Amino acid sequence: KKKIAVMTSGGDSQGMSGAVRAVVRQTIASGCIAYAVYEGYEGLVQGGDLIKRMQWEDVRGWLSEGGTLIGTARCMAFMERPGRLTAANNMVEKGIDALIICGGDGSLTGADKFRAEWPSLIDELVTTGKRTKEEVKQFKHLNIVGLVGSIDNDLSGTDATIGCYSSLQRICQAIDYIDATALSHQRAFVIEVMGRHCGWLALMAGVSCGADFVFLPENPPSENWEEEMCSIISKHRKLGKRKTIVIVAEGAHDRQLTHISPDMVKDLLSNRLHLDTRVTTLGHVQRGGTACAYDRMLATLQGVEAVKAVLEATPETPSPVICIVENKIVRKNLMEAVKMTKEVAAQIAAKDFAAAMAGRDAEFAE
Ligand code: F6P
Repeated sequence: KKKIAVMTSGGDSQGMSGAVRAVVRQTIASGCIAYAVYEGYEGLVQGGDLIKRMQWEDVRGWLSEGGTLIGTARCMAFMERPGRLTAANNMVEKGIDALIICGGDGSLTGADKFRAEWPSLIDELVTTGKRTKEEVKQFKHLNIVGLVGSIDNDLSGTDATIGCYSSLQRICQAIDYIDATALSHQRAFVIEVMGRHCGWLALMAGVSCGADFVFLPENPPSENWEEEMCSIISKHRKLGKRKTIVIVAEGAHDRQLTHISPDMVKDLLSNRLHLDTRVTTLGHVQRGGTACAYDRMLATLQGVEAVKAVLEATPETPSPVICIVENKIVRKNLMEAVKMTKEVAAQIAAKDFAAAMAGRDAEFAE
């Protein structure tokens, strides 16, 4: 019986537990044996109890749980070959040669590297006497399948990542709460939202909450952004709006790209427009809580597809990543999706915003 392991890695996101549930149950339903690797790559390197056989009932109720119930961690040991050799040995010991990883682009890149290195790791296990030729006979290839779990919606090639709509929902709820107090006092709020180098959360929160102004990493403000923002906000105020909401994506200032910080915006609103202004950083609330219906559905459909991809893979099949495009669950080439994602991030870092915007447009046009 084929043994398939599932693991979550990198920053958690709502829906990851649902993805684990789907993989475990589809694995068992397909007549295979399911394993969960606890604590991300750390669990793969440490092995033992951290690579646990999973039964159908072990994942009962996981659809409505937040975060990832099998844990996630940043693992330095897996970055080095000796760590990956130990990980390969632990997998051989359990008889696992297929791994489904739910994480961001960094975690998925690590997984594909592991797959590429796998034959030489297996050889090394034999030459160093850790395993006999007989023991590794059936471990010629490692199957890797990626699921994208991230609140940032930052992977090229997919319309949505597992967690992004829950996070957006959380942001909208928080802004609704802020609206109530802002309205009462006629105040302005500058709200910082997450998203590392992707402005999707900020942009969609702006659209969904009717924000007055949004700062994104992909779209730096014009030279005269101060006048532009102030004139828009005063216009809104003159039209009778009692509150002002400005959203700043963390990537718009953390990486010093646009040099806009929430405090700068606050000072401007206070000093130039004389608005009583507060700054709110939403922080990890955005990654917490349970998954919304869309993320539960996405996690389940994609988890099922990931197991099918494992069972249909040949040694020649490049590692796939499970995406959603125009409401259809599809498989794409994992490393091509990662490459495109990195290109856009590099363009933003190099302040080539036009290219970055074209890259994002291409993603949507795809
Ligand atoms: O990538 C997901 C994310 O939540 C980003 O939006 C944010 O920049 C980062 O992780 C925060 O990471 P940490 O939890 O390590 O502070």
